Amino acid sequence: MRAVDIIQKKRNGGTLTSEELTFLIKGYSQGDIPDYQLSAWAMAVFFRGMNAEETAALTRAMAESGDQVDLSPINGIKVDKHSTGGVGDKTSLIIGPLVASCGVPVAKMSGRGLGHTGGTIDKMESMQGFRTELTREAFIEQVNAIGVAIIGQSGNMAPADKKLYALRDVTATVESIPLIASSVMSKKIAAGADAIVLDVKTGSGAFMKTLEDSEKLAMAMVEIGTQVGRQTAALISDMDQPLGLAIGNALEVQEAIDTLHGRGPEDLTELCIALASHMVVLGGQAGDLAEADKKLREQLSSGAALAKFKQFVAAQGGNPAVADDPSLLPQAAYTVEVPAARSGYVHAIQAEELGLAAMLLGAGRETKDSVIDHAVGITLKRKIGEAVHEGETLALLHVRNIDAGSEAVLKRVQDAYKINAQPKSPSPLLLSVVTEQGIQRI
Ligand code: URA
Repeated sequence: MRAVDIIQKKRNGGTLTSEELTFLIKGYSQGDIPDYQLSAWAMAVFFRGMNAEETAALTRAMAESGDQVDLSPINGIKVDKHSTGGVGDKTSLIIGPLVASCGVPVAKMSGRGLGHTGGTIDKMESMQGFRTELTREAFIEQVNAIGVAIIGQSGNMAPADKKLYALRDVTATVESIPLIASSVMSKKIAAGADAIVLDVKTGSGAFMKTLEDSEKLAMAMVEIGTQVGRQTAALISDMDQPLGLAIGNALEVQEAIDTLHGRGPEDLTELCIALASHMVVLGGQAGDLAEADKKLREQLSSGAALAKFKQFVAAQGGNPAVADDPSLLPQAAYTVEVPAARSGYVHAIQAEELGLAAMLLGAGRETKDSVIDHAVGITLKRKIGEAVHEGETLALLHVRNIDAGSEAVLKRVQDAYKINAQPKSPSPLLLSVVTEQGIQRI
């Protein structure tokens, strides 16, 4: 087999076999096939696409390129959840204990944040003493004992994807649905869960800007899951503005705790319940989505989900008292009000800009080695559709110092809000559900 023949076949619109794709990925991982050949192949895929079988074979080859987690010692159906990335997305912190409180084991590996997106691991580390590294044995033991553990991702998970993603980033081949779908799913499959629920974001703050493209991506991922024997469902949710009101590590933990108390922002609460409902059904603890929804709301109102969160925090070395006293979380020295530059209604909030603004305050990483400040961030006081008068507060910055840096961020946040004179209704948060059976608009 020769790489050049495989590239030519795809360039001419042919269908690659599983053997050809495995040869390509294995050869690339081992350094036998050079970057320039993989780049040419990625560009051929970009223009010619791949069918469901090819995409699944590519995913399998990438998942098999590194560590594969064996979750079989954990009792029950393990269901994982993945979001394609968003600003203010703290759903894993809520869904982990919430779903576990319904009897579905959650053995989750999460990442750190980079650029404008936050990472669950950084958020959890804002709780003093919280350990995000556990041995494999301790991880499995914890899930069997209390039903939930969330740890940092192994460095050697789907290394072929890591190498290919870096290459796609510099060869203008990121925005290919089969390449994104296989990239995301290779890591999920290597992480070992029996079933996967995906939160595919759409809108200005997301990878996919239109609902149609988001649905195509979701369908490609559901098809991969089905082909490799992992039941997969996807929800398409709006990312035209940040999720909830808090952006920044400790601020997001506080909002997650509020949500577990049953007093979180409505959009965040509803998205968590919708994703968790699919997890509870796939995990075999409810017969249908309506039953799961009812059960989850009961777990929130009875305090069972919050109790599970406390157990989870204590098991990983944190102080569970944080769930009743958020002042135990790191607090920024100052808050700065961001005033509205004009009166009107909020029409748009550029989520990516707010993510970058929070990063500039110190909440996120500019490079892999940046040190983050868990206390800083942004809390929103207005969301899309709300009225505001000139000079009223749009958002609060939580900062370490008041200086030229915080002034620049203030301007950036102010500019991220688009205010017009005409009223505006916010777009719905949940747009479609994608399963093996097809796409269903909500
Ligand atoms: N996230 C991934 O993990 N891979 C992609 O290709 C795009 C987003």
